[in-house]
Amino acid sequence: MNLAGRLVALHLATDPGLPSPHLAIVLGEADDHGFALVAPLAEPTQSSTSLSLSSADLGEGTLASPLAIRVDRLTTLHISAFSPRPIRLRPSKLAEVHRAIALHHTRAFSRLQHANQQPGERLDGRDTFAPGQTTVPYAGRVFDSDEVEAAVSATLDFWLTLGPEGDAFESELAAYLGVRRTLLVNSGSSANLLAVSALTSHKLGDRRLRPGDEVITVAAGFPTTVAPILQNGLVPVFIDNDPLTLNARLDQLEEAFVPGKTKAVFMAHTLGNPFDLTAVTDFCHRHQLWLIEDNCDALGSRYDDRLTGTFGDLSTQSFYPPHHLTMGEGGAVNIVRETRLKPLVESFRDWGRDCWCPSGKDNTCNKRFGWQLGELPEGYDHKYIYSHLGYNLKPLDPQAAIGRAQLRKLPTFVQARIDHWNRLRTTLAPLEDVLEFQLPTHATGWSASQGFSWDTSGHRTTPSWFGFMMRVRPDAPFSRRDFARALDAARIGNRMLFGGNLLRQPAFVQLRRDNPAAFRVVGELAGADRIMNESVFTGVYPGLTDAMLEYTTETITRFCRR
Ligand SMILES: Cc1ncc(COP(=O)(O)O)c(C=O)c1O
Repeated sequence: MNLAGRLVALHLATDPGLPSPHLAIVLGEADDHGFALVAPLAEPTQSSTSLSLSSADLGEGTLASPLAIRVDRLTTLHISAFSPRPIRLRPSKLAEVHRAIALHHTRAFSRLQHANQQPGERLDGRDTFAPGQTTVPYAGRVFDSDEVEAAVSATLDFWLTLGPEGDAFESELAAYLGVRRTLLVNSGSSANLLAVSALTSHKLGDRRLRPGDEVITVAAGFPTTVAPILQNGLVPVFIDNDPLTLNARLDQLEEAFVPGKTKAVFMAHTLGNPFDLTAVTDFCHRHQLWLIEDNCDALGSRYDDRLTGTFGDLSTQSFYPPHHLTMGEGGAVNIVRETRLKPLVESFRDWGRDCWCPSGKDNTCNKRFGWQLGELPEGYDHKYIYSHLGYNLKPLDPQAAIGRAQLRKLPTFVQARIDHWNRLRTTLAPLEDVLEFQLPTHATGWSASQGFSWDTSGHRTTPSWFGFMMRVRPDAPFSRRDFARALDAARIGNRMLFGGNLLRQPAFVQLRRDNPAAFRVVGELAGADRIMNESVFTGVYPGLTDAMLEYTTETITRFCRR
């Protein structure tokens, strides 16, 4: 007899807490020796380890009243230990039981396997960190069984391509930020490529970016903030970085501007520090320029009370592991206000197509065979009409499921980053004679008693820090290289500001040789050079423990005072 899904009455009590007569669901066929796995039935509860069971879940028979299937109390019994009743679950309900069991075990697995990936405060007190032997990462994934369960659950669905989890993540991130729409992509670099590409669309008429148009950007930072400008046939115009805020020197904006040529500004909130959004948005409004905020390192940062990534026309996120939340690989483009930009970003993301049906769906526009576009025949399938020269930059649905679990933790992650930064700043304050520390935009100084002092603009910034940047003063008795080497030797993760002055990178040196008109530079870029030569940052990510932070500050102090 096929027992899978069958309700059975147990001859022996297996659990005194269960209702009488003791009932169970057989989860699969008995093995060759007559043993089968069963899940006991209990009174209905709201527990995450029980699934409700009612007559609607049955393929055969009925239940007098609803029950619950306990997925945490499985037993293997011989078939002589129970009597089948004429009641059987629908296959879909039996599958749901198996999913709940798999996820119950997934959580148990993850609690054991990934214990070290939890937020630092949960790790403190455990013997996981040996100073000088265990690496203090500068960044990393912070997750628990929620994310692993989400990934497994979405994988069990096996939808795979961007689908329900992606839709939900896009809505949830858009709601968190307060932007019109968010589109999920497979990396922050893809998000940057799409943001620029979308603005080249012919559908924007006069406002489209055309080959040769100039885009103002910053010299020191991450290469894929700049590469999409060149990849779209546009001309990056580099302004300098301020060596303390690490953001653009906005006094150079007007100098960079060329009427009729400059069409956009694309800059990052460096290491989580918002750039001066009053000055930049004012500049963009005055000259009718597009603004793209590279918010990849700044999710959760605020300018006054408003989140960064909500000031420009478009903004971008990265969900690579060092970032504020992760889904392995991943990124997003935020459409801040103008919903007309959404189908453009989406088109470039999804092969350049004109159609906006989600994957697996047809005829969302209700006129799949009713369009005539380009020189195609009337009624050509809209699914295969391409209005742009696009890409395919979609992530997978399980990535979005992981991202949703991470997003629920974002506020605590952001707070941990701020707390860790403040702790490093306070403890390392006595080293100000040899080290200079990053300043948030609009801050003029910092003191242990008062925190930051601010300029007279009336604006404040609250960075959701990506890292703790230190600049070795020129008169310090050691170089940045000595300092970074000492951190490395002590196993303290450290990084430069990504590519430093990007114009000194081989790719840009070659580009200048190949095509000197490919980009333009304003001024000397002395600030970008100083950042490249004098700065290094360590981590503030939520996975750091008290012990790691203490070891970091002790090591830095010992090195500076040796
Ligand atoms: C400012 C900035 N923009 C873009 C990116 C690219 O993101 P991804 O690594 O997801 O491609 C990074 C990467 O860390 C970054 O720091």
